[in-house]
Amino acid sequence: MAEIVMECKNLWKTYGKIIAVKDVSFQIREGEIKLVFGPSGSGKSTFLRCLAMLTIPDKGDVYLRDQCLTKPSVDLNKARAKIGFVFQHIWLFRHLTALGNVELSLRRVLKMPKDEAREKAMEALRLVKMEDWAKHYPAQMSGGQQQRVGIARALARNPNIILLDEPTSALDPELTGEVIDTLRDLARMGTTMLIVSHEMPFAREVADEMIFYDEGAIVETGPPELFFTNPESERAKKFMARLIKKTKRE
Ligand SMILES: Nc1ncnc2c1ncn2[C@@H]1O[C@H](COP(=O)(O)OP(=O)(O)O)[C@@H](O)[C@H]1O
Ligand SMILES: [Mg+2]
Repeated sequence: MAEIVMECKNLWKTYGKIIAVKDVSFQIREGEIKLVFGPSGSGKSTFLRCLAMLTIPDKGDVYLRDQCLTKPSVDLNKARAKIGFVFQHIWLFRHLTALGNVELSLRRVLKMPKDEAREKAMEALRLVKMEDWAKHYPAQMSGGQQQRVGIARALARNPNIILLDEPTSALDPELTGEVIDTLRDLARMGTTMLIVSHEMPFAREVADEMIFYDEGAIVETGPPELFFTNPESERAKKFMARLIKKTKRE
């Protein structure tokens, strides 16, 4: 079996009375694609942010390969550099070109020499088919193109895993497809990915496992076919029925 890339054990994160992550344990292996879905406000983003240590969990441990990220002695900047993160609300620096945005983290975080950073950034832009837009500024690009640059930025550092938090949900429906195409390319390349998404046809096509997340917890996991045919839990059943109805309407 492939090596475990990321793992968490008994993870907790609360905000006052809200429990966003409730004793969650999870692992993902090299080359796997896992897809998290579930109601809004259930804690999916918090779960992803805790895995990337962008939000510090209250309790529990996170591992990236065999390094424990929740140990106080860990250099978090260094560790985070090995985790790609793609946000729902695309944030690129407005005053930097596509290339500049991708280069920046290579130069700042990885302290890569200029020429090498440029080369790596161009390579990442090529992978998301944005190399012709390298010299353009975010304002000159569509939302889908900006998100592809966001994905290139995550890819360029050659991370162990990429976490994507609803990468298409801030986009107009007609722009969703191009970002999904990019994710499909990454899947074909064998990229290890944990994706929060409600794009069900895409999930069915690429996910090795789907994870139904509700009220701060993993309620049910299984292959996409399970969720499309006969989820076990009542909650997943209801949620899937609503999703499928919504997809049909669109
Ligand atoms: N920084 C924060 N401060 C206070 N409450 C938060 C914060 N982040 C998330 N929450 C709350 O935690 C719950 C889970 O949020 P979130 O992880 O964004 O859920 P999801 O991504 O599933 O919509 C929500 O009730 C949200 O309001
Ligand atoms: Mg969210």
